[in-house]
Amino acid sequence: MACDRLKDGFRKGQRLYNYHLREERNVYPFYIPAIIYIFLLLLHAFWDHIPDYWNNVYKQPTYPDVPPPMLEYSSAQYPNDITVVTGYFNLGTFQKGPLSYLKFSVDTYKNWMNAYSKLNNSVIAFTDSDEIAQLFKKMRSKYLPESLTQVHVLKRDDLWAFKLAPKIKDIYSEPNYPKYMPNTVNEYYSCAMHVKYELLEIVIKKKLLKTRYVSWVDIGYFREEMNKLFRMEPPDNLKEGHIVYTQIHPFYDYMQPEDIIKSNSVWIAGGFILGTPEYLMIMIEDYKKTTEDMISKRLMDTDQQVLYILYSQYSDIKPRVPIQAIYHLCRCNWFFLGELCRDAYDRQFRPFVPLLNFFSQLL
Ligand SMILES: *[C@@H]1O[C@H](CO)[C@@H](O)[C@H](O)[C@H]1NC(C)=O
Repeated sequence: MACDRLKDGFRKGQRLYNYHLREERNVYPFYIPAIIYIFLLLLHAFWDHIPDYWNNVYKQPTYPDVPPPMLEYSSAQYPNDITVVTGYFNLGTFQKGPLSYLKFSVDTYKNWMNAYSKLNNSVIAFTDSDEIAQLFKKMRSKYLPESLTQVHVLKRDDLWAFKLAPKIKDIYSEPNYPKYMPNTVNEYYSCAMHVKYELLEIVIKKKLLKTRYVSWVDIGYFREEMNKLFRMEPPDNLKEGHIVYTQIHPFYDYMQPEDIIKSNSVWIAGGFILGTPEYLMIMIEDYKKTTEDMISKRLMDTDQQVLYILYSQYSDIKPRVPIQAIYHLCRCNWFFLGELCRDAYDRQFRPFVPLLNFFSQLL
């Protein structure tokens, strides 16, 4: 008897349970947020144990110790801000990458340049085009005070980087030289990459900057539509005497200079360079020497391969400045350093961040 009653009760409970479960299932799969929440908790708990391939498995290059700075270029007296140096040289329309329909033209860059109208940092721009110079000044004066912008028009033929063009053309015209559009095909594209270091050098030598940090930022670096003014500030945890880049691929220490060029390999991205002038000047010397050394060995590509070769163990030029290679956890974000600098400014406007940090510490 008691047994039957128990069985009855059990069946009733089961029916009730099934009924509600089925009901709720029809209404809303309530367990999905729970699963996501548990997944996130586990991810958080095991985050430190997810292998960091770039630092544990592949390793970084062996960096030199921080050298003595070139004190005559020190910017220690200036505020802890970033001056942005950028440039545009008219190369006409060229194919970018292996797909023939993907072409970059003056209009592509004019479009991307728009973001600079909202960049609330000191900007020093160089160009060989009067049209771009006027346009850039006009864009920058729309929302920002004039004192934040310098535009310098210069001639390509006066620049070290562009004087290399005939030699690079000669290397690229070798029948068996690798063909990557436009890196190892268009000698002027290659020059326009080397010129970044030369322009930084001009800015530092002529003492055009009034901030602690100086950066190179490609004219086409900000590709999204900016709907308000934005500003970049130095992120936390910058290492003294290092030059900062975004790492985008692992560093393979067995790569010979020829392999790096044959495979068009990239280790750190060249679009955003951040450092202090007294160390950047040393880096720039190393960069120029490596570029010339490569040309003498009939090797050439863009700045990204020059950097890879300079820091590889097979380089005849020994690098003197360590690099701080930072990367997004997805290891897929070419624009990470820029986003980090923007975030260094933006986060003061996010009132809930301290609260989130507090809760994440409780976990
Ligand atoms: C640019 O940023 C500075 C520093 O945060 C701020 O004082 C200034 O008002 C900003 N300029 C504009 C035009 O908003």
